[in-house]
Parts: sequence; C-alpha cells; structure tokens
Amino acid sequence: MSDAPVMGINLVKDFAAAGDFEKKHAPYIWLEPQGDKVVVNVEVGHEVAHPNGPDHYITWIELYAGMAPIVRLDLSPVVTHPRFSVPVSLPVGTVIRAIEHCNLHGLWAYEVTL
Ligand SMILES: [Fe+2]
Repeated sequence: MSDAPVMGINLVKDFAAAGDFEKKHAPYIWLEPQGDKVVVNVEVGHEVAHPNGPDHYITWIELYAGMAPIVRLDLSPVVTHPRFSVPVSLPVGTVIRAIEHCNLHGLWAYEVTL
C-alpha cells in the first residue's frame, strides 16, 4: 500500500498477514486474563513503529465493546506512546474493537473476540 492518505475506516482483519504500512497503523490488541476481568492491551506500532513527531503521529485511540465506546485516549506527539491497557468486565464472545486516528493516514481498526 502507498503512503497516500486513506479514507474511511481501514479494518485490518488478519494482523499477521498485514504489510508494514498496515502494521504501523492497525491498533494491535492482546488480552490477558486477570481474575474475573480481562486486561485489554492496545498498541499502535506493535511490530512496526509508527512515527511520533509533530508532523505525523497517532492523535487518538478508541476502544469499543460491540458498538459501545468504552475508552478514548487522546495523545500528544513525542511525549506519549500510542499504547494503553485497561481491565474490563465483559461477557465471553464480546467483540472488542480498537480504532485509531493517524493525522496523515486516517482511521485504522482491529478487533478481537473475548
Ligand atoms: Fe501514519
């Protein structure tokens, strides 16, 4: 894929098979059971680092449980890294979707099922 701006939400369905441009932008999700909760970890640039300077950076990340927004993280370039972890109490089978916004390349999403 080129480095051109991308319109719409780009849902990366198979992270392992994604190219470097997709891996730079897709908000990777991994889950860690913790007692009666699950910790949802989200990171943009998990395998291929995304730029984090004033001219090109991840501006925000949102997390959804199904269609419901549950977390929003607004980021500043240079001083913050696009990663967070949050414990959740949700039923098995819930689809967890993260959407991120790159100031140059638009919206990117990835999802997992609890
Ligand atoms: Fe970007």
